[in-house]
Amino acid sequence: MKVIRTIEELRAEIRNRRSKEASPVGLVPTMGYLHEGHASLMQRAREMTGTVVLSIFVNPIQFGPGEDFETYPRDEERDLAVAESNGVDIVFIPDVSEMYPQPTKTKVAVSELTSLLCGASRPGHFDGVTTVVNKLFNIVKPDFAFFGMKDAQQVAVIEQMVRDLNIDVEIVPCPIVREADGLALSSRNVYLKPEEREQALVLSKSLQTALEQLENGSVTTAGEVRTLLNNIISEAPIADIDYAEVLTFPELKPIDNETKVSDTGSAVILALAVRFGRTRLIDNVLFQLKEGISHV
Ligand code: PAF
Repeated sequence: MKVIRTIEELRAEIRNRRSKEASPVGLVPTMGYLHEGHASLMQRAREMTGTVVLSIFVNPIQFGPGEDFETYPRDEERDLAVAESNGVDIVFIPDVSEMYPQPTKTKVAVSELTSLLCGASRPGHFDGVTTVVNKLFNIVKPDFAFFGMKDAQQVAVIEQMVRDLNIDVEIVPCPIVREADGLALSSRNVYLKPEEREQALVLSKSLQTALEQLENGSVTTAGEVRTLLNNIISEAPIADIDYAEVLTFPELKPIDNETKVSDTGSAVILALAVRFGRTRLIDNVLFQLKEGISHV
């Protein structure tokens, strides 16, 4: 496994590998502090491509003022061991001055899809994400890029950007990976105090209960689902709900309270963002409801 810190060296290495073998290049973009969710992306990339590039870059421009850019967990040594054990060929770890040698005057911004959910709570966040992902696509020129569905809005936004800008890459969304008790894996879980970690289980519990009740018909409309999600999350005294939404996916159109979820005719996402102390967690479930629930 090669560890590369400059764009020039990375481009040369990829050119060299492409000249020797025709197999596709896969990119797994991350901000490091790797966990089993990231490992599943690397494994998928390993299955589908001949060269797996993992990028580790805590991207300052996707953090707002007062957010956790400075304190975002970092552990390069451990990350390199995780990458190696998951069959990564190249780890790209640029520093901020390599990615942004001067203040960036160009940004890539996707409209509409970024104005709600995390886009509403974190203004400018998705412009930072699409700008850096675009730069990574231009640097690596991957055939496939792998993203976790825990950040489902991010996946929808990046897929839109790829379509709108005719970027020659296939986005591969990968399923959420959870702890045995249901908590979705996130690098930010490390911030949770034991009591917050315990109470955060209401996220997966609320999503699971909503799915079960939609399937057995105890709830049918989007309004009933919103109420159910809010009620279950509020059982955790310290949970501070940012949003608990019911939307079509990937359009991210909120479904009216009166509309039956089964009548939408498209994939539906239940999406949550909730603060536990200073930690904001997100979670979601994506499904199709026709004759029963099917996961998509
Ligand atoms: O999902 C993340 O870790 C980041 O948003 C990404 C895609 C690596 C861009 O910085």
